[in-house]
Amino acid sequence: MNFQNKISYYYEYADFKLILGDSLEMMKKFPSETFDMIFADPPYFLSSGGITCNSGRMVKVDKGEWDKSLSINEKHDFNKRWLSECKRLLKKGGTIWISGTYHNIYSIGMALEELEFKILNNIIWEKSNPSPNLSCRYFTHSTETILWAKRNKNEKHKFNYKLMKSLNNGKQMKDVWTFSTASKSEKKYGHHPTQKPLKLLERIIMAATDEGDLILDPFNGSGTTGIAASRLKRKYLGIDIEQSYLDITVNRLKDSFQMKFEI
Ligand SMILES: C[S@@+](CC[C@H](N)C(=O)[O-])C[C@H]1O[C@@H](n2cnc3c(N)ncnc32)[C@H](O)[C@@H]1O
Repeated sequence: MNFQNKISYYYEYADFKLILGDSLEMMKKFPSETFDMIFADPPYFLSSGGITCNSGRMVKVDKGEWDKSLSINEKHDFNKRWLSECKRLLKKGGTIWISGTYHNIYSIGMALEELEFKILNNIIWEKSNPSPNLSCRYFTHSTETILWAKRNKNEKHKFNYKLMKSLNNGKQMKDVWTFSTASKSEKKYGHHPTQKPLKLLERIIMAATDEGDLILDPFNGSGTTGIAASRLKRKYLGIDIEQSYLDITVNRLKDSFQMKFEI
């Protein structure tokens, strides 16, 4: 991974690199077919003044400026633009994983089809410890969807099937995965409103890459994808528009080798 001439990194240590900026612009700087895998957890577009439960308290849904609601068309246009860059950047046989809630995942699925990706799985992450629903007018929201796709239907994609089976006591792994949300110890480096649990990203990376592969996360956030990649000896490039989130990522990386390695 050597693009130093064209790109200015916010942080780099060996094969771990972070860029501060808008992904839509930054991804254009990389040559086609650069990455073995992409994980993306794009804005949910749900910060519209509703209420939610945080640590037992009723609070307004306000994850940040980057998460403000857009019209359906604006949201879909944004999704198509970043996904088409991802398609250009994926290597042959590479795959993309996109996580989201119902606020955005249907637009993502439609965009994947319009761009002629081939959807491989519709994985459900079941949260074992969801926040309660304070309004008592809905079922408790306790899932996120992760769409797994390859560039087009004709290519053979990488899938470490046997490893997944062995991690599931010798049985084929299903597409419903149960994990708790990010633990307190994973969150001690600073606050990010939508931090993913490390175990979720470790499973995704183990399923679709090998040691030494290069992974992109265009919506880096607190850097969960990067920390999992580094623990599993993969190369990583993360992009985020918010400097404070990249600082959390750097703190997590510096500390990550002291955490117990548990899969
Ligand atoms: C849902 S969060 C990702 C959380 C991440 N998966 C984690 O575990 O911490 C989305 C992130 O995308 C960033 N973001 C939003 N729009 C962006 C853009 N156009 N370019 C780069 N980053 C963006 C936000 O700052 C936010 O950190």
